[in-house]
Amino acid sequence: MIPHFYQEDAEVLYSGQIARNVYLMRLRAPEIARTCRPAQFVQVRTDVGGSPYLRRPFSALRADPEAGWIEVVYDAVGAGTRRMADAGPGHRLNLLGPLGRPFVPPAAGRLLMVAGGVGLVPLAFMAWFHSERRDAMVFLMGAASKERMPEMDRVIPSDLCRRLATDDGSLGHKGPVTDLIPDHVLQDDTQVLTCGPHAMMARVAGIAAERRLPCMASLENHMACGFGACVGCVVAYREAEREDHRYRRVCIEGPVVDAHAIVW
Ligand SMILES: Cc1cc2nc3c(=O)[nH]c(=O)nc-3n(C[C@H](O)[C@H](O)[C@H](O)COP(=O)(O)OP(=O)(O)OC[C@H]3O[C@@H](n4cnc5c(N)ncnc54)[C@H](O)[C@@H]3O)c2cc1C
Ligand code: FES
Repeated sequence: MIPHFYQEDAEVLYSGQIARNVYLMRLRAPEIARTCRPAQFVQVRTDVGGSPYLRRPFSALRADPEAGWIEVVYDAVGAGTRRMADAGPGHRLNLLGPLGRPFVPPAAGRLLMVAGGVGLVPLAFMAWFHSERRDAMVFLMGAASKERMPEMDRVIPSDLCRRLATDDGSLGHKGPVTDLIPDHVLQDDTQVLTCGPHAMMARVAGIAAERRLPCMASLENHMACGFGACVGCVVAYREAEREDHRYRRVCIEGPVVDAHAIVW
């Protein structure tokens, strides 16, 4: 079934750089802002590659239903995102959303979030949205270097417990963010959430499995339609009691999936 979503010509209210090559954009999109939940995403029409149909997917960082805006954070990696970086206040971008299934945290227990690069976005939305659970959350954030680390107070709540890691040691722990996990999984009521580069998420899932902790991953597979019609975003998925694996569409059955069931 195709999920219900909106199409809006969203005015850019703010756009600014928050790390080298990483941008935060606020867009006026009242319908999407009203219903958008953590881990949901929008498809942005950038009109690059000669096709208006191949939109670019971005997780929502925050949504303010009263003010009618959403925010996205993106790494300018290619033609579409560079075009977004050029779109200043007053410019309009066509959005479809909110898409994907929202992630609802378990009613109790601790939440350990492990983010790499712009993978921070859906996890940060969890912390903004579920403020009543914030003191049970720990946010581990990894980036290549200090220059590539987004200004954290602009993307996560200031009272959220956080630890940072960089590959080159220019900020926080030197080494992969996964090094920080063992310090924070002292209790077995911890649920792990992760989003970031594929290899990092696979490592996080492996550590969680060794400790028998539940682990959810927010996947960022390449997508075309974003609403279940093209089967362009599938991921191999193991099902209990089956030897082989099946495929699931990340855009409508995810983007948050059980990391232990993914064939990494
Ligand atoms: C559900 C979802 C949520 C996402 N959320 C964010 C987000 O919050 N912030 C953010 O910066 N990016 C996010 N992405 C990735 C983002 O969609 C791509 O980086 C973007 O589409 C690149 O568009 P482009 O035209 O600039 O690059 P292109 O010119 O299309 O590609 C440039 C480079 O980026 C790579 N690339 C393209 N699409 C993806 C992708 N989906 N994942 C990984 N690499 C890709 C290409 O292989 C190529 O190397 C998300 C993707 C998905 C599926
Ligand atoms: S992107 Fe088309 S089915 Fe998922």
